[in-house]
This record gives sequence, C-alpha cells and structure tokens, in this order.
Amino acid sequence: MTAPFGRGTRIAGTGRALPAEVVTNADLEKIVDTSDEWIVQRTGIRARHRAAEADTVFSLGRDALLKALDRAGVRADQLDMIIVATVSGEMLCPSTAARISEAVGAGEAAVFDLAAACSGFLYGLNLADTMIRCGRAERVAIIGVEVLTRLVDWNDRTVSIIFGDGAGAAVVVADPDPRKGCVHQTMHGDGRMWRTLYHPKCDRDVPAGDEANPIRLGHLRMHGREIYKFAVTRFQEAIQDALDRTGLKVGDVQQYICHQSNQRIIESAVEKLKLPPERVYVNIDRYGNTSAASIPICLDELYEAGRIEAGKPIILVAFGAGVTWASCVWNP
Ligand code: ACO
Repeated sequence: MTAPFGRGTRIAGTGRALPAEVVTNADLEKIVDTSDEWIVQRTGIRARHRAAEADTVFSLGRDALLKALDRAGVRADQLDMIIVATVSGEMLCPSTAARISEAVGAGEAAVFDLAAACSGFLYGLNLADTMIRCGRAERVAIIGVEVLTRLVDWNDRTVSIIFGDGAGAAVVVADPDPRKGCVHQTMHGDGRMWRTLYHPKCDRDVPAGDEANPIRLGHLRMHGREIYKFAVTRFQEAIQDALDRTGLKVGDVQQYICHQSNQRIIESAVEKLKLPPERVYVNIDRYGNTSAASIPICLDELYEAGRIEAGKPIILVAFGAGVTWASCVWNP
C-alpha cells in the first residue's frame, strides 16, 4: 500500500484555536423556537463556539498555525506553502493565507485560500501530500478555519443550530519512507448541487426557483434534507472505496475521522459498514459543524490525546457545499 513517487510525508504537528464563547442549545432556545432535545436527537450537537468581535478567520487561523508550527518544531520561514481552507474569510483579496503568512513570518511561502467548504482541509491535505511527494515542496501548512456564525441568520432555526466557529492546522513535511503519509486520496465535486447550500449577497446570487425562500440576503441558505441524503450516501461510499482501493479491512484502521456535520450521518456509516464505534471520532457535541475546521480540530485532539499511533492507517472523509467530497487514507 504505497503511493507513487520515491518519498512520503508525515504530519509533524497540529494545532487548534477556538473562540472563548460557547453557545449551548439552551442559549438557542431563547432565540428561536427549538429545544435541546430536538437538536441533540437530529444532529448530536450540544454546544458550539462563537467568535467574539475580535475573533476573525485570520486570527483563529494564525493561532492554530502557530501551535502547529511549535509542535512540529518547524519555523514559519521554513514553510514552502500555506493553504487556508475557508469559505468565511473576512476579505476575498488578499487571501487570508497571505495575511497569516505575514503574521507568522513565513517569508516567501506560496499562499492561497481554498474554497471547498467542509471538504477544504482534506483537499488541502491531499494537495500538500502530492506537492511534497513529487518534490515540489518540503514543508506545507494547511489551515481549516471558519467563522460561520457571522454568515448565519440567528433567527433561522434550520441553520443556526448547526454551525460553529474554530480553526485547526497541520504542518506536513517530507519523510524518506514512501509508505508514510497519504497512500490513497480522492477529491470530487458535483456543481449541479450547489444550490443546496449557498451564501447569496444580493438578488442576482439567488438562483431561479429559490426566490421565495424567506432567508435574508447575506445569510446562508441550506436545503438540509437534500444535503443529508447526499451526505449519508457519499460518506459510506467514500469509506468503502478507501477500504477497497487499499485492501484494508475495517478493523485495520485505527481511526475514522469524518467531517462533523451531523452525528446521525456519521452513525449511519458506522451501522452500514459495521465500523467499530470506538474508532470513529466524534466531537460534534462540543463544536457543532465547523466546516473546513472540523477535520483538523479532530486531528489535533486525537494527536494531543496520543490516539494516533505510527504505522496504523487512518481514514479521513468529508463532504461540503459545492457540493464537494474528499477522502484520504493516511499512514502516520
Ligand atoms: N428546532 C425544532 N424544530 C425544527 C428545527 C429546529 N432547530 N429545524 C427544523 N425544525 C422542524 C421543521 O420545521 C420540521 O417541522 P414540520 O415537520 O412541522 O414541518 C421538522 O423539524 C423536520 O424538519 P427537517 O428539515 O425535515 O429536519 P431534518 O430531520 O432533515 O433535520 C437538519 C434538519 C438537522 C438540518 C438535517 O437535514 C441535516 O443535518 N442536514 C444536513 C445539514 C448539513 O450537514 N449541512 C452542512 C453540510 S455542508 C457543510 O458542512 C458546509
């Protein structure tokens, strides 16, 4: 089970940053007609972090990267590339990655933002592995960061209960062993489904047929049911495909790290594929859906807890707006 090219990669360090404020389901009960019971049953979410005025995609992303660099023992000026996966950056121009690069002192590292929503971090990790493996880079930082609570209409109970803010980062470096790092990856999209989740700024952004949707401009519009059906199917297919392509058995995998979108979506994959539940990481109860930040926050918590051992593969899968989906089999 080795990927092409003569060398491999490894995650040298991870980090995360969360805003201090925690919004519980009880807090939401005071804003909209909902209940802790409904939210927990339908999504598994109990609380989410919300950015304060001073917290930004830039500041959270920077803080997560600084921790990851520290743990990796890599200096910022040794990075060849900084990829920031986000759909909620404060500015479209310049990239958030450019501002983070200046803040951490990354010199002339390549910088760009990657807008693949919840699949963004995995797209970035897959790209980083490929760039390093083929010798085009030595050290790449990937940051997944979102402040989605600023894009949400807090009076829209179908959306506001789901999303939370946060950041996670990983520093990936070259490793002489080609069996290390990403040994299988997929990245997909289906633009025909973009209307299921979008963020219209003005009337012309609203697609034909959705004009009657009462959600105000400037806020996320989500057709939750459609996303749910798509996600349940794709999650299962992506994990099964990753197992089939690598010849791994369900029990060979030490951790399944799924985008934390909805606990029911994760549980349906666990049931269908008979995954050992103790190896399927879940933290959606504490963070909600943090989109591109969700997978790197999981990774950081697992590394911090010493739950990722060298030599045993992990499988990462994500889906998101666009729609996009991606998978990665990673040999730590
Ligand atoms: N509290 C109480 N009741 C609610 C709430 C709420 N927060 N939201 C909706 N309801 C009601 C609805 O009005 C409806 O009532 P009705 O039957 O009287 O009409 C009922 O609950 C059922 O509504 P549904 O929308 O059918 O609820 P569903 O079981 O589909 O759950 C949910 C909704 C949680 C949004 C689910 O569809 C979901 O998780 N979808 C995927 C969302 C997702 O993952 N989005 C992000 C992916 S992409 C990315 O991460 C960027």
